[in-house]
Amino acid sequence: MSSLANKRIVLGVTGSIAAYKSAELVRRLRDAGARVRVVLTDGGAKFITPLTLQSLSGQPVQQHLLDAGSEANFGHIELARWADVILIAPASANSLARLARGQADDLLTAVCLATTTTVVVAPAMNHRMWAHAATQDNVKTLLQRGVKIFGPAAGDQACGETGPGRMLETDALVTALATLFKPGTLSGTRVLITAGPTQEAIDPVRFIGNRSSGKMGFAMARAAQEAGAQVTLVSGPVALATPEGVSRIDVRSARQMHDMVLRHVVDADIFIATAAVADYRPKFAAQEKIKKSREELTLDLVRNPDILAAVAALKTGPFTVGFAAETHNLEKNAQEKLLAKSLDMIAANHVGPQQGFEQDDNALFVLWRGGRQELGLAHKDVLARALVELIAQRYRQSKQ
Ligand code: CTP
Repeated sequence: MSSLANKRIVLGVTGSIAAYKSAELVRRLRDAGARVRVVLTDGGAKFITPLTLQSLSGQPVQQHLLDAGSEANFGHIELARWADVILIAPASANSLARLARGQADDLLTAVCLATTTTVVVAPAMNHRMWAHAATQDNVKTLLQRGVKIFGPAAGDQACGETGPGRMLETDALVTALATLFKPGTLSGTRVLITAGPTQEAIDPVRFIGNRSSGKMGFAMARAAQEAGAQVTLVSGPVALATPEGVSRIDVRSARQMHDMVLRHVVDADIFIATAAVADYRPKFAAQEKIKKSREELTLDLVRNPDILAAVAALKTGPFTVGFAAETHNLEKNAQEKLLAKSLDMIAANHVGPQQGFEQDDNALFVLWRGGRQELGLAHKDVLARALVELIAQRYRQSKQ
């Protein structure tokens, strides 16, 4: 059965030539078992008739905010509450701008403002209009507010030009919409992740740190959250925004990270250690700023607790995933760490000039007892999703 079965979809149709495809879209959504109510804007009605959409959806098409009949029942509020998802396809450049500004001067924008459900837009416009800074700013604003953007595709356009701006084909839209309703591979699990560097105080203004940006850990948190997990992220000092839906705890030193992890790990099903934890800290952190009075200065360093090893050693601990950053002998070193720390899985990557730290792209070599998989060079977000899928598979198998 399609994951769209019995889902309630408000389909917004705005003023774009691609509106002719909305008729097919209604039909395909209904074939998949969804219930569809169409909201047609004035612009949309110039391209497709309400009668067509009404015949296909089997429901009256709603067009006006202040419609005496439906507004007697607060039509826009009722629609906003009814919907499991609001899909605007096609979404014209004008409709994106109006949504981004938060206007509520027609039925569709009012419904979008009144809803707490997911809003998805499928842009359709001339490729120059799509590329324009104003449109791109609007898209960015909408993304930041959690609106999902499906497409656009590139190709021949109705205006005779070529480029990105075409509405996604009906099949692709239906498939993408269906994935919103599929239970994630980590649904029902709680995932604890460490990320970023740690800072080990030398005195009140200086510390020993490292070049970790936290990007991989934050990408893992986002991917695990998208896969349905309840995610807690314990992060060292980084300049990154918290992924939506993730609860974040900020720490500075390895010992703080260790304490926070051990406090929260009792609730975790999966622990993923992406943080670049300092192995050593100064034995004494000076209370006052150290003055440059001496020719030589020696810092005594002592070992920090190994957070990953501590979690892996717990009797009823979670499924534990470590990371290994290596400059050489990647597989051998990773294999040794997997066994030495009794991990369930380890993801290893090369570090060095232009690799690993501070980069947007990465490549991973993933090992577990009796298996291995390479995840080739890709953006850290893409890589994180693939790794989360792998973790979910191994985690489920470990429970069987
Ligand atoms: N880790 C940790 N706590 C530490 C040190 C490391 O949790 N005090 C975790 C990291 O988050 C990472 C993995 O352990 O998941 C890295 O393993 P480790 O053996 O510490 O790697 P390196 O520090 O690179 O070790 P070495 O210098 O011995 O290669």
